[in-house]
This record gives sequence, C-alpha cells and structure tokens, in this order.
Amino acid sequence: MRIYLDNNATTPLHPEVLRSLEVNFRDVFGNASSIHQEGQTARRLIEDARESVGRLIGAASRDIVFTSGGTESNNAAIFGAVAAAGRHHIVTTQIEHPSVAEPVAELERLGHEVVRVAAARSGRVDAGRIVEALRPDTRLVAMMLANNETGVLQPVAEVGRVCRERGIHLHCDAVQAAGKVAFSVESLGCDTLSLSAHKMHAPKGIGALYVRRGVAMSTHMFGGAQERRRRPGTENVPLAAAFGVAAKLAADGSWRDGAAALRDRLESEMANLIEITVNGADVPRLPNTSNITFRGIDGEGLVIALDLKGVAVSTGSACSSGRVEPSPILLAMGLTPEEAKSTVRFSLSRFTTAPEITSAIEVLKEVVPRCAVR
Ligand SMILES: Cc1ncc(COP(=O)(O)O)c(C=O)c1O
Repeated sequence: MRIYLDNNATTPLHPEVLRSLEVNFRDVFGNASSIHQEGQTARRLIEDARESVGRLIGAASRDIVFTSGGTESNNAAIFGAVAAAGRHHIVTTQIEHPSVAEPVAELERLGHEVVRVAAARSGRVDAGRIVEALRPDTRLVAMMLANNETGVLQPVAEVGRVCRERGIHLHCDAVQAAGKVAFSVESLGCDTLSLSAHKMHAPKGIGALYVRRGVAMSTHMFGGAQERRRRPGTENVPLAAAFGVAAKLAADGSWRDGAAALRDRLESEMANLIEITVNGADVPRLPNTSNITFRGIDGEGLVIALDLKGVAVSTGSACSSGRVEPSPILLAMGLTPEEAKSTVRFSLSRFTTAPEITSAIEVLKEVVPRCAVR
C-alpha cells in the first residue's frame, strides 16, 4: 500500500468527482454554445459548476472564468492587468510559484519595473513591506495566499485594503489555499484570483480565474464569445462540471482539523527523532502542509528512500540539468543552501488517515538516520 503525502503537488480524484466525469464524458457531448437540447444540457452543467466554484470563494458565478488551470489563470491575470501601453511598476514577492514569478519576469524583460518583496524566516511576507514598495505608478500587486512549499498564509487581505484605496490591481494566487482554508474574494480585497481544480481532488487541465466586476483587464486570447470573451474556445464541460463537484465538496472543511492534528503528530515524532526545524510553524499556515528541515540529512536521498518504502513526499528542490538546486522559496526565506537541501515537504489531504501517518512515521524512523550527509 502506498502512502501519498504529496497533495500540494496534486491530489487523487474524489470518488464523486470521478463519478461525475464518467457520466458526463459518456452522456454530455454537446457544445455548450448550441441552442439544441444537447447544447443546453452542457450549458446547464457549466453554469452549475460556475455557481459552485464561485460559492467556494464568495464570488458571484458571473465573475468566474474557466481556464486550463492555475498557470493559465495567473498568466491571464498578470498580463491582462498590465497590458495597457506604457511602463508600469509591479510589486510581487520572492516566494511566488513560477506561474506568477515567470510572467512577472517576462513583463520585466519587456521594460516594466518590478519589486520583489522578501519573506521573513517564518515564510511570511510582511504586509507593511509590500505597502512600502507601492508607488503612485504601481499597476499590479501579485501575491499568493498560501505558499505551496511551506503552506504559510500570506497577508493578502491587509495588502488588499491598501490596494483598494489606491486603485491598484491586486492579483491573488489562491491555488494552494482554496479548499484548505476559508476565505472570500471580498475579505481579500483582490481584483483577480486564481484557482486550480487538481489541488482539490478534481482533474488536471481545469482551473478558474475570478475577475471582479468592473476591473479593467485585457484578454490573453481572442476567438469566440465563450466565458464572456475572457477565455474563448469550446468549453470542456465534463472537466468544468468535475471542478464544480470538487468545489462543493471542498466547501466542507470538516477534515481540516483532523489533517492538522495528524500533521502535528508527524512533526512532534520527527522532533523526537532528530534535530529539525518546522518551517512556518510560528505563523498561520495551511492545515495539511509540513515543511521540515532535517539537520544533516540529504533531502533528495530521503525522498527517494521514502519512495522505495512506499511513502510519496517531495523536496522543494528543482532538478535542472541533472543538478539538484535548492528551493528558491526556502533560500528567499533565509535558509542556507545546505538547509534547503535538507528539507522535505509532507502534504496531507482529506483522505490521509491516522494509520497512514503512523506507518509513515515508522518508515521515517527507519530511513532518516540512513540519509545523513555528515
Ligand atoms: C501556488 C501555486 N500556484 C499555481 C500553480 C499552478 O497550477 P496548475 O498546476 O493548475 O497550472 C501551483 C501548482 O503547483 C501552485 O502551487
């Protein structure tokens, strides 16, 4: 039996989501733009899904645009907010996912000016430092709600209040937060917000972008009238419907306390085993995420050893051209390259059980000592 503790990378399908996919791929083939019954059945499914996804984040369904996932949503929002002519000032953080960091870097290459605010050692970016970076010509602030590696929650609402006052576009990458913590687009004060279905037990290839009504934004694609022209192209109805089912299920957060308790047990057992630092432990973070630096341990080796024993986890390291680079997020938090390379992420889900965590702890006790680098 495999024990899957890499749910921040992606999640297995919820059985109800799978059922909806099976039924809709078989029975609903109509083009949602067609006026006949086949088309109207497809249309209804999409609109129901839009309602459910909107409800999860406190948004009206008409403000939800279906996309292919978090990456597309982030690109659409960032390029869409800065498309107007002229050079603009953009504020972001040093701990963003590449799907935010790279579009921003591309805008910088195109001549826009970018400030990247650092994170504290806790993994949290100080709202005051983001506000200090704002200028009269700041066009866009792009920041995540929860970090994918540490789970640390970022002060989007505090930044949002200031952005609203000053008329600055605030884009929030909520891909990791959605379904794991409660929030609403109103409480965050954001203009656009990204979601991805595969992080909440729905399939890959479908996501959403919330666009607050009245926000001035250009579109990234041109074509038909689908998705209010914000994202043209014939809709993938079964995927959108599956996202709707997952969003409804995600609104029930009753699993979160249980996941946090299992996560805490894992952390305290590791602290008894070896010298560790739990990154983000002192600030608000997602209930399912544990980012642990095991002092003197090779993180990559530990991930491989755990995999061989049936436990799936990940490092934040990026493997480029055969060399494992330390995670830029952990480095931005002030960890040394050695500490970053000794760090492993465990991410739980609503399906993680107490016996699984007990078994994972047993395996860790066995393999951690074998992964010492010095
Ligand atoms: C914080 C964050 N933003 C965006 C993405 C990208 O989402 P997708 O895989 O749907 O493109 C991810 C995926 O890992 C993520 O963790």
